Amino acid sequence: MINILRTRRSIRKYKDRAIEGEHLEALKEALLRCPSSRGTNPWTFIFVDDPETISALARSKEHGSQFLKGAPLAVVICGDETRSDVWVEDCSITSIVLQLAAHSLGLGSCWVQIRLRPHSKDATAEAYVQGLLGIPLYMRVESIVGIGYPAETKAPIPRDHLDYTKIHFNRF
Ligand SMILES: Cc1cc2nc3c(=O)[nH]c(=O)nc-3n(C[C@H](O)[C@H](O)[C@H](O)COP(=O)(O)O)c2cc1C
Repeated sequence: MINILRTRRSIRKYKDRAIEGEHLEALKEALLRCPSSRGTNPWTFIFVDDPETISALARSKEHGSQFLKGAPLAVVICGDETRSDVWVEDCSITSIVLQLAAHSLGLGSCWVQIRLRPHSKDATAEAYVQGLLGIPLYMRVESIVGIGYPAETKAPIPRDHLDYTKIHFNRF
């Protein structure tokens, strides 16, 4: 696990290659094994591989979602706010677990923030994604994770770049 964390980076460029069935199944399994508060599992994961729909998802935000256009897979991560008051935490955990699982399989990925982000002057990114995919309003959209075989390499962050002043002992 520590090696997965040492080499993990956000990857936004992908090969034009569909994700193998075995890898897809492992990604689903990783999501469904995530912990959630009180074990309520308030989430729904929408696996999108239709290129037109992925292109539309790439237009979710003015900035920061366009890279999805080149992804063979986009996973939309939703949480049921009527089932959990901490759906944001639960969905955030699944988003990062999905990214780490993807990396462990040789796939690259990047998180697209949807919750609290605008689509345009008049619409939220969340409402746009809900409208596009037929998601009911109580099923909130946390993120979209773009995934594919990497077409860019990024150097791991060296250990001596880590900011150890972030870590305190016993008191603030
Ligand atoms: C909560 C969260 C939201 C993010 N939103 C976006 C996003 O909307 N678009 C994007 O391209 N990257 C997004 N990222 C990726 C970050 O930009 C990236 O993790 C950060 O710059 C550090 O780079 P690294 O992941 O390669 O270490 C997000 C990451 C997190 C954790």
